[in-house]
Amino acid sequence: MKLKISIITCLIFVFQITISNGQETIPSLKEKYNKFFPLGVAMGEKHLQRQDTVLVPYHFSSITAENDMKPSRTIASENKFTFERGDALVDFAKKHGLLVRGHTLVWYNQTDDWFYENDEGELLSKNELFKRMKSYIKAVLDHYRGDVYAWDVVNEAISDESDLFYREDIKWFQIGGPEYIEMAFRYAREADPDVKLFYNDYDLINPKKRDKAYKMLKELLEKGVPIDGVGMQGHWTLEDVNKENLGKAIDLFSSLGLEVQITELDISVYPYYHNMDRSTLPKEIKPYTPELASKLAEKYKEVFELLRAKKDKITGVTFWGVADNKTWLSNYVVKGRTDYPLLFDKDYNPKKAFYSIMDF
Ligand code: GLA
Repeated sequence: MKLKISIITCLIFVFQITISNGQETIPSLKEKYNKFFPLGVAMGEKHLQRQDTVLVPYHFSSITAENDMKPSRTIASENKFTFERGDALVDFAKKHGLLVRGHTLVWYNQTDDWFYENDEGELLSKNELFKRMKSYIKAVLDHYRGDVYAWDVVNEAISDESDLFYREDIKWFQIGGPEYIEMAFRYAREADPDVKLFYNDYDLINPKKRDKAYKMLKELLEKGVPIDGVGMQGHWTLEDVNKENLGKAIDLFSSLGLEVQITELDISVYPYYHNMDRSTLPKEIKPYTPELASKLAEKYKEVFELLRAKKDKITGVTFWGVADNKTWLSNYVVKGRTDYPLLFDKDYNPKKAFYSIMDF
């Protein structure tokens, strides 16, 4: 009798583990969005753990390397490539039949200083920098050929300042001038004729920055620069994104014949933070109350209603992180200020926001 009870207890335990590890009782995001656009998520080493690895393939059809394909992770010195972490993500994607977005080749951030310098530590000339960029892009695209379907070729080249067009305070611009943008795309196309090439930036719903991006992309396309799409990072807040500004930006970029993707979606519950003096941002941690959960759900509902309505112009929507437990927003904008920007809470449970985008 005792043995029978303990066998039954054991079976119930195994059953419970199966349910809590998996998402079987929860509808799948990717199935629901199947006829709209692929849904993706950013992942890194920290996500290659049990719960994330179960949740991701169940809900998403594509992944982006959160950090592991950035120059500081893929190359240690000239000709010394360190693809191991990116490769682990590609292996995970292959195992589960997921697409991979490559992020990112040319960015002022997370690119080590040596990249712009010669052996003596002096800044490279423009020609030398472009030569290095070309061979770097070729090596990375060769390595991931066939495994990565799209690359963010240039990330964040446009300035937030109203009197500046480009970010000029970065080495890429200081050495290469604006031409570095064009050359990055040309080298990428030369290295791989099939992979999709994206320009990626944040705050593109902001009319000033949006119009600069539009102008830049239009001019590049007119010059025959090979660009397939624009990645609107997302990184929105409850207060800045709405149907109007998001719809307008998508329409504009798409009118250039470009694919549009939302590449780094998270919605902060704190005020707008791009290009703000960090010391002026509120430091107080908001508790995750039912009211806040409802506000976030309403905002996600609004955003996804618009995205679904524009499905013909959108070829992917990627969340910047799996669950609230590991969001960059809790550590970066204001250090230690817990944020709740994703669809899954810190314990991987679907939030009200999750259901708000599934309810149609
Ligand atoms: C930018 C970059 C991303 C990432 C986020 C913050 O949006 O494109 O790679 O660093 O910032 O996590």
